[in-house]
This record gives sequence, structure tokens and C-alpha cells, in this order.
Amino acid sequence: MADLGFVDPLGPGEVPDLSRRQLLNLLTFGVVTGVALGALYPVGRFFAPPRAGAVLGGVVARDELGSPITATGWLAQHGQGDRSLVQGLKGDPTYLIVGGDGAIGSFGLNAICTHLGCVVPWNGAVGKFICPCHGSQYDAEGAVVRGPAPLPLALAHVQVENDQVALTSWSETDFRDGSRPWWG
Ligand code: FES
Repeated sequence: MADLGFVDPLGPGEVPDLSRRQLLNLLTFGVVTGVALGALYPVGRFFAPPRAGAVLGGVVARDELGSPITATGWLAQHGQGDRSLVQGLKGDPTYLIVGGDGAIGSFGLNAICTHLGCVVPWNGAVGKFICPCHGSQYDAEGAVVRGPAPLPLALAHVQVENDQVALTSWSETDFRDGSRPWWG
């Protein structure tokens, strides 16, 4: 008979003994199980509820210690007009705004100055964000009122659900000047 090039790893006519067969079975089982689990993992992730700390397309707002904040806890300590920082998207310092109705506003402001990246503090006395590095000023909604900052503070959506405060990225038109978001 012609040699088809097939090489029997066990040698000609050799029958695997019990322990080798068991080993082969075990290896086959491991490979099949691995492939099956690999295929099912994304399906499981799709149906599993999101992990605490992660929300669809965004993050849970956290305080300076890294603990998730609650809306009631936040509002107990921050009154109308307050602008205070939480850890937001990508861990960036982000201002939550308490509106005139005493609720957390629907947008947050990334506190990173668009000039050279200093964190811009809120000055409640004059109602502006004033950068300590080169003097840029932003109004209460983060629009530039004095340079050298070239662009407004980046926006993020803020959603409160079940007392949890979530931040998600803002990809819509910038309501302050009608432009496309520069941070998108
Ligand atoms: Fe804010 Fe330069 S970094 S003005």
C-alpha cells in the first residue's frame, strides 16, 4: 500500500494503554471545555447585570477616597449652586452641579483646564472657574470668558438612578456654543 505520509504518534500498531488513553481523554475534554467556555463568555457578559462601579457607557461618580457617592448623601452636604468635584470618566476630576431646584444637574464639567491641563477650582464668590496656572476663566457652565484657555471645559452627562450617580460621555452638540464637542 502507498505511504500516505501519515505518522502514527503511538507507533505502528500500538494501542494506547489505559493511562495514556485517560490522558488523551482529559486533554480532549480540556480543549473542548475551553473552547465552549470561550464561546459562551461574551454571551454571559451580555446578559449579566453590570458590575457595581460600571454603568453602561460610563462610570459611577466617586468621592476623593474612591467611594461611590449617593445622590442623597451628596445633596445633604452640597447646597444649591454648589460645584464640587467627584472622580468622573477616566478618573478625571469632574464638577457636579447642584441646581436651583436642589437636585444634581444633568451635566458635569471636567475640571481639567483646556490650556495646559491644570485642575481649575470653582470660585463661588465670583461665580467662575479660575485657573491658578495662567489665569484662564470659565463661567458657571464652563464656557471660556478669559483666555488663554482655547476651549470650554468638557461636558459629561450626569444621571441619577436609584440614588446612584452615574457619568456618561457627552457626544451631542455642546449646548453652550452649538459646536461639536472637541473632547469627543
Ligand atoms: Fe489653565 Fe494655563 S493651564 S490657564
